[in-house]
Amino acid sequence: MGKKKLWGGRFSNTPSKVAEEIATSLHYDMRLYKHDIRGSLAHAKMLCKQKIISQKDLDDIQKGLAIIEQEIENGTFPFNEAFEDIHMNIEARLTELIGDAGKRLHTARSRNDQVITDVRLYLKDEMHEIKKLLIQLIVTIVQKAEETKYVVMPGYTHLQIAQPVRMAHHLLAYAWAMLRDVQRLDFAYGQTDELPLGSGALAGVNYTTDRQFLADELHCGAIAHNSMDAVSNRDFIADFLYFSSIMGMHCSRLAEDIILWSTAEFNFITLSDSVTTGSSIMPQKRNPDVAELVRGKTGRLYGNLLTLLTLLKGLPMTYNRDLQEDKEPLFDAIDTVKLIISGMNEVIATMHVNEEVTRKAIYKNFSTATDIADYLVMKGTPFRQAHEIVGSMVKYCEHHNEDFFTLPLEALKKFSEQFDNDIYDYINPEKSTERKQSYGSTSLKSVEHQIMVIREKLHEYGC
Ligand code: ARG
Repeated sequence: MGKKKLWGGRFSNTPSKVAEEIATSLHYDMRLYKHDIRGSLAHAKMLCKQKIISQKDLDDIQKGLAIIEQEIENGTFPFNEAFEDIHMNIEARLTELIGDAGKRLHTARSRNDQVITDVRLYLKDEMHEIKKLLIQLIVTIVQKAEETKYVVMPGYTHLQIAQPVRMAHHLLAYAWAMLRDVQRLDFAYGQTDELPLGSGALAGVNYTTDRQFLADELHCGAIAHNSMDAVSNRDFIADFLYFSSIMGMHCSRLAEDIILWSTAEFNFITLSDSVTTGSSIMPQKRNPDVAELVRGKTGRLYGNLLTLLTLLKGLPMTYNRDLQEDKEPLFDAIDTVKLIISGMNEVIATMHVNEEVTRKAIYKNFSTATDIADYLVMKGTPFRQAHEIVGSMVKYCEHHNEDFFTLPLEALKKFSEQFDNDIYDYINPEKSTERKQSYGSTSLKSVEHQIMVIREKLHEYGC
């Protein structure tokens, strides 16, 4: 309680302690200060150009806002929770510094169009940053794919060994998913790049403003066409949160693969010391904490999306104070996304592949059973029948503790007369990947083609 509010004219009493406590957003919207100042500078310039305020007022506002930016940056700004948010804090301080010109800044503007303009400007800057990080992660994955294109390992379905694949192919599956994330981010950016400023509280303003001038000053690609939509639209935040959820899910799945691969049971990779931690009690432990937290933090990204969707669903037109609650999920998602991408990047960049282990693993669980069925198809057996024959071979081998490779040709011929000496080449799991001929397969040619296509796409993004 205390300070008279900037909106206090029609009130006889100040709000209660709890009302102030519930209303304040300063502790989190503080991070919008730079963009609030940018928005105010553009607005003041436009007011002056349109002769709504004088050149002297504009000069004072520019000087005052420059001082405020300095004060915030060097930690001397007198923040006051009673002024609710960063926008009111800046305006109150401006008036303290420059007098009446500060009071004129809010002409033809409402906090409703101001706040959401600031959020859009801030989010656009963060999106540039996030896009750079995400593209770097894709570059790192492609680099690892290049390094592992000769590493063969089991591919899994149901987490059971299925067919041999190249590790590069497995990693590139994530690169493709993340390229789609870049597209989702671009879409969200397009939605964000629209200017609400100049819409006033909800109905427009009683001044001959120039919104195109504002859009040009603030580098916005479009102007909101409906003032009511402008002040209540939070769809672009939902688009960003959806992007962050899907992207988080991709990172989380990759993290899960990495965690599995780094276990003693799999031992396909060894994680770097830089992304693992020890245990306070078990001296031998090396835990994959960074990957685990990438996986864990994805949960809050989903939570943020759901928070916003729930917040929006019952709101009548137009601005409702509920909308202030859009910021914490957004800010948390921005911070989390940046951490997740950077963490994942470090995990992948520094992991060591235990090639001998992955190579041995493809000899397990009859990983070339499908290849043998295809061999029989090639020799004229219908596929369903071939499937049946190989199934009984697996059963036989399991029963007699044998493998396809250990059976002599006479034994194989008992299952099908069509088996010949060339079957041993087919049985070799290390040759399995090269028999894949379809477009997009795990063969070396296909993996190299994928790397080339992805690199071309990355090139378009400036890499
Ligand atoms: N801090 C508020 C927000 O972020 C400011 C908007 C207040 N507008 C109003 N009409 N009371 O939404």
